[in-house]
Amino acid sequence: MLISSSKLLKNAKQNHYAFPHFNFWDSNSIRAEIMAAEELKLPVILAWAQKHSPEIGIEDALALGKYYGNKANVPVVLHLDHGVDVDTVEYGVTHGFTSVMIDASDKDFNENVRETKIIGSYAHERGIVVEAEIGHVGTNSTKDGSMYTEVAAAQEFARLTNVDSLAVSIGTSHGVYKQGTPKLSFSRLAELEKAVPIPLVLHGGSSSGDENLARAAKQGITKVNIYTDLANAALNATQKNSFLSEPDMAFAQRKAVKDLAEHYYKVFGTVNYQYTI
Ligand code: 13P
Ligand code: ZN
Repeated sequence: MLISSSKLLKNAKQNHYAFPHFNFWDSNSIRAEIMAAEELKLPVILAWAQKHSPEIGIEDALALGKYYGNKANVPVVLHLDHGVDVDTVEYGVTHGFTSVMIDASDKDFNENVRETKIIGSYAHERGIVVEAEIGHVGTNSTKDGSMYTEVAAAQEFARLTNVDSLAVSIGTSHGVYKQGTPKLSFSRLAELEKAVPIPLVLHGGSSSGDENLARAAKQGITKVNIYTDLANAALNATQKNSFLSEPDMAFAQRKAVKDLAEHYYKVFGTVNYQYTI
């Protein structure tokens, strides 16, 4: 069954844990992520990121998400991640995503507010929840560095845009880190949690350290986005073994992705949550 993330993130905020958000990039990864959720009997947030369009287009992602999401015996949120243009996100809203992110975090404050408001009213009129980002979670390259979220800006942004959840930047980056586990600013997170009334989201979860992520989940983050670690788990499973058939290899990849997904449910404290419809 496909559901909204609204109730999930509110519950996570109230009870100091987080939901994992897993990006999928093909049918094998989405199946593995659902298997993890089914094993633990927990809802799952499955996401297609617009920047993954070269590997999997929006139509394919929608088809896979709806097919496997409706077949799953746990609730599934189908989320459009890092939507970078209004047209694509609006298309996602009308074609089956149950949650969308408009990401104008690399633009100035006013433009970020303007684009987020356009998506906000379009999506809310259609019963779809919206995530946006203030501050910027970059990619560890010199061209796209992270910028910490300012508390006053986050508070004002949430008030002006009426979004349902807000991605904030407290020291993580997308992808692998060049220099070990990052140092997260828990003091900034505490200030943000106090000032911003809506659920907070953490991007760039991969390789950020279980201790850091567990603490972030306890202290105000309600969703942690994970992609790179899952893709690397699939790759490592392939490289570690020599397979006699492609299906055997795909099976090993699914198992590696499923095991890691289950691990993150435990790290974020989601396993203590009893879901009721
Ligand atoms: P990682 O690839 O660092 O896990 O980031 C995932 C993410 O933020 C997707 O939106
Ligand atoms: Zn992200």
